[in-house]
Amino acid sequence: MKVLIINGSPRPNGNTSIALKEMEKVFAAEGVETEILQIGNKDIRSCVACGSCAKTGACVFDDIVNEAAPKFEACDGLVVASPVYYASANATLVAFLTRLFYSTHFDKTMKVGASVVCARRGGLSATFDELNKFFTISGMPVASSRYWNSIHGRLPGEASQDEEGLLTMRTLARNMTFLMKSIALGKEAYGLPEKEAPVSTNFIR
Ligand SMILES: Cc1cc2nc3c(=O)[nH]c(=O)nc-3n(C[C@H](O)[C@H](O)[C@H](O)COP(=O)(O)O)c2cc1C
Repeated sequence: MKVLIINGSPRPNGNTSIALKEMEKVFAAEGVETEILQIGNKDIRSCVACGSCAKTGACVFDDIVNEAAPKFEACDGLVVASPVYYASANATLVAFLTRLFYSTHFDKTMKVGASVVCARRGGLSATFDELNKFFTISGMPVASSRYWNSIHGRLPGEASQDEEGLLTMRTLARNMTFLMKSIALGKEAYGLPEKEAPVSTNFIR
């Protein structure tokens, strides 16, 4: 079992990373391998709608998005974490996810997704919803916890005082592990769900 973790904070040792480290402890105890990609401090542009990936299966901008693609393909679960900026995800992370999900054509069905959000005070559930939408358009079941997956703090380190937030992260990692293991068993027993040929109507005809 392998989980790829994307940290969208530009502060690799900030509050978002405290949440992720709490999850990593549980994954390690459960025998789940993890890899963290720090992408929030990188210069990542967004999609330019050139359509090149439709032909090549890779983004025309050959950066960390294309490096992450095979790791995403190989993982059983994906954790996406963001600091809240103006009640939204960090724009660098959104650019990264937009290009990663749009440019890759491998089957993401039944890879488990989980999002984690971190803020001083507000905008957490809006950001949580925003991130989960990448999973729910891709056939990826979403792991949940005992609360929406959020942690609080402003200055780096403050999130370690949010005991409820930390418990939410540990529970999330346990639930995610259970889902990944159950899906692995289900795939063996039943295979992946049948897929129909795509229909794309653009609300016109
Ligand atoms: C540009 C910017 C916008 C922010 N917007 C919000 C916000 O809308 N709501 C909030 O509660 N905190 C907001 N914050 C505070 C961060 O979410 C908070 O400091 C968080 O701990 C950052 O996580 P990090 O340490 O992992 O980077 C903002 C911070 C910055 C730099």
